Amino acid sequence: MHRKEDARFIRGRGNYVDDVRLPGMLHGAILRSPHAHARILSIDTSAAEAHPKVRAVITGQTLAGLNLAWMPTLSNDVQAVLATDKVRFQGQEVAFVVAEDAYSARDALELIEVDYEPLDAVVDARRALDEDSPVIRDDLEGRTSNRIFDWEAGDRERTDAIFAGAEVTINQDMIYPRVHPAPLETCGAVADFDKVTGKLTVWCPTQAPHAHRTLYALVAGLPEHKIRVISPDIGGGFGGKVGIYPGYVCAIVGSIVTGRPVKWMEDRSENLMATAFARDYHMSGEVAATRDGVIQAIRVKVLADHGAFNGTAQPTKFPAGFFHVFTGSYDLQAAHCEVTGVYTNKAPGGVAYACSFRVTEAVYLVERLIDVLAAELGLDPAELRLRNLLKPDQFPYTSPTGWEYDSGDYIKTMRMAMDIAGYDKLRAEQADKRARGELMGIGISFFTEAVGAGPRKHMDILGLGMADGAELRVHPTGKAVLRVSCQSQGQGHETTFAQIVGHELGIPADDVEVVHGDTDQTPFGLGTYGSRSTPVSGAATAIVARKVRERARLVAAAMLECSPDDLDWQIDESAEGRAGSWAVRGDPASRKSMQEIALAAHSALELPDGVEGHLDAVTVYNPPNLTYPFGAYICVVDVDPGTGQVKVRRFVAVDDCGVRINPMIVEGQIHGGLADGVGMALMQVMAFDEEGNHLGASFMDYLLPTSMECPSWELGETVTPSPHHPLGAKGVGESATVGSPPAVVNAVVDALAPYGIRHADMPLTPANVWRVIQGDPFRT
Ligand code: CDP
Repeated sequence: MHRKEDARFIRGRGNYVDDVRLPGMLHGAILRSPHAHARILSIDTSAAEAHPKVRAVITGQTLAGLNLAWMPTLSNDVQAVLATDKVRFQGQEVAFVVAEDAYSARDALELIEVDYEPLDAVVDARRALDEDSPVIRDDLEGRTSNRIFDWEAGDRERTDAIFAGAEVTINQDMIYPRVHPAPLETCGAVADFDKVTGKLTVWCPTQAPHAHRTLYALVAGLPEHKIRVISPDIGGGFGGKVGIYPGYVCAIVGSIVTGRPVKWMEDRSENLMATAFARDYHMSGEVAATRDGVIQAIRVKVLADHGAFNGTAQPTKFPAGFFHVFTGSYDLQAAHCEVTGVYTNKAPGGVAYACSFRVTEAVYLVERLIDVLAAELGLDPAELRLRNLLKPDQFPYTSPTGWEYDSGDYIKTMRMAMDIAGYDKLRAEQADKRARGELMGIGISFFTEAVGAGPRKHMDILGLGMADGAELRVHPTGKAVLRVSCQSQGQGHETTFAQIVGHELGIPADDVEVVHGDTDQTPFGLGTYGSRSTPVSGAATAIVARKVRERARLVAAAMLECSPDDLDWQIDESAEGRAGSWAVRGDPASRKSMQEIALAAHSALELPDGVEGHLDAVTVYNPPNLTYPFGAYICVVDVDPGTGQVKVRRFVAVDDCGVRINPMIVEGQIHGGLADGVGMALMQVMAFDEEGNHLGASFMDYLLPTSMECPSWELGETVTPSPHHPLGAKGVGESATVGSPPAVVNAVVDALAPYGIRHADMPLTPANVWRVIQGDPFRT
């Protein structure tokens, strides 16, 4: 089925936050810090206030008077909305101007005088815990260092014992550089506070509208039923639009102060400098194995750079997200990891950029380590993986860090990728090329993700359980409206969720309207990120539709004057759309279609006692487990030894996300994720100088991959249904972003093997690759 939403997107009829124009609307702009670390001595706003078109200038002091200068982050830290004492990263929000138009608001920023006393900045996470490092968060009582948390998982003793007796051990330090989700639509908000009704309406491109509403209620003390969050069309979220940004709060305060609606839209540089970054993990991994290539244990230490405020969006119990899956797809005896989070003078974040809470970092680590081990043992990396991948009869499999992988047939998927790639032929071609001095590389990655957060008993965000609601109403003419709490940012939920309802009710998916992104119109739920929509809201949709179908059975029984137990559900696949009906067992001609039942349910038909009229239902789905999609990727690169330029020649991706609801959309998700991964592996890093100046605040410096850098993707699929999802579906939105960077890096390192190179950090730009070839290992 084609995407329903494309009709409006390709005709320019999408409705984004910046399209919202309200009568009397004012415009806000943010003054940002030029320093990475500085004390604020004074702020003089008088000249800006005197600007004829300025209606309000808001500073940290104004907000402090309202108890809003600081707001909670999604990781139980606090973040300055507008700085009061110090600025802690370049680009931090210092003042907010509200004016009659956007240009005047920006002009007036230049009239604000801020007197700063610059302080030493902590830019390198590896220096953050040094005795002589300045303490960034002196706002937090009793804080004497930049350490945020220490966290560990796995069994240290058992792991150490295996390492002590291992025949072979390898270790490798690596960095997953700081990168940015860089959605095409930047962040922004329109806030409209109605003083008469006391109702606040906020339009913003949030991936989690209900969570935002609850947080606004808790932080601002506004009654939750008087807050409406509307998340219209979103031009890409990728995890960067989960949290609440200071600009949103400023727009709300601006509207309360002026009594008029206020719009704030950030520009590209603001987005790259100040909204949430991703990754920034300094990892050190070790593997213990036997000489014949049986992997026994993995041991990991991570230094996690969280920036100036711990704004990471992840379940409360897990400060390193789902990093637990660093044990990968392999049959290990033991594993242990330690993660230390630190503050630095950089923008806050650590968002799950197209991944399920640090799964990306974990998969990159383990897949690089496997290649380092293969080099050490002189084994083919595909062969090493095949020897160690979990076998189908091991599922459900409990990993050494305690996570239960629901289902998998890894070897089949791996073999399919090798077949599509023509693996043996590629290795033969590589040998020929190497003999001629040409650099060709073949890189493999096999990943397992943990998506669909999550079971209430295991996870919450700021105390909010991660279950999702769904409501379904079938109108008298058999057309349906589904209301869900998740929020599409381009993933096509309006299509796939309509397909789920159509499938369950036996009506055409075109007859189902999906409503999302408006807290007044939809049931509570935690939103869309970490590929959780299909595993959680998709399951809720299937279940609510089944409830309606059961209600329809009772109505059909009344219509056919029989017992509901005598009815069978029938689908006539040959009918136009999907024709579902309840039919009398043994007499299939006596049946009622969903459309006939819907009309009867709203009619004067006498229904038995206890059977409610109308056809609707609500549900809340609390997933019993995460889903564990997986895949095998093979990347082929050619590296120019003279320039270090990497060309991705081929990329084979075999994904298993269980049952696919819409294969075309799934492939689109994979294409996008693969491109993302190529971007991260070859082009992207949020770089800073030693004073904390941001060096990549435009798309001239922070590069996005285009079709020019991407090969024609070669996809394959295996289907291993999730045993606990009502449709057998697993999430897929982020699989390719997770799985592709290690495949590309492994390919480049493989190409460079003739130089004796075992590892090179991302991004593998021509300059960086060239330096590695010259024997000058660099650090990003
Ligand atoms: O949470 P998010 O929507 O980002 O990720 P997802 O649940 O993996 O879904 C991405 C898109 O792919 C949605 O439109 C899904 O319904 C669709 N999908 C599918 O058709 N079949 C699957 N097994 C998984 C996702």
